[in-house]
Amino acid sequence: MRIAVGTDHRGFDVRAKVVDLARRLGHEVIDVGTFSADAVDYPDIAADVAHRVSRHEVDRGILICGTGLGMCIAANKVPGVRAAPCHDDITAELCRRHNDSNVLCLSADLLGERLIDRMVEIWLNTPFEGGRHARRLEKIAALEKEVEAECQKRHEGEDSAR
Ligand code: RB5
Repeated sequence: MRIAVGTDHRGFDVRAKVVDLARRLGHEVIDVGTFSADAVDYPDIAADVAHRVSRHEVDRGILICGTGLGMCIAANKVPGVRAAPCHDDITAELCRRHNDSNVLCLSADLLGERLIDRMVEIWLNTPFEGGRHARRLEKIAALEKEVEAECQKRHEGEDSAR
């Protein structure tokens, strides 16, 4: 698979290990940085990875920040992205089996190196189960469309009020 990996400064040390692991597992990795320990804003990195996933430039994304939460909140604003904040083997597995998660969000501060390696491997190797779960994902996609249409209407209203 093609995988985009991005972190903010808190995940800077972990990033190279995750990139290396994904490559060793046979994946093509697009490393979007950050490339130094200088502070950056996690929404910028999350947007970069999430847009690549949404545009199907990559199959999946991995995002790392202090808690994994800010990255997840930001990435899930992009249509088609199903980002999951995982903290153990079970969440890494179930967000693939049940939610067809296409972005894995990890905490650099709260998870150990061995756990992160295991979770990344599980997440990359676990298939989506489909079936009843596919129906639920269709509902999420329909919700996205509803919100998009609502925003569009609102913009049109604003334009005609000018
Ligand atoms: C950066 O200080 C920190 O807020 C960020 O890495 C992340 O934990 C946000 O959710």
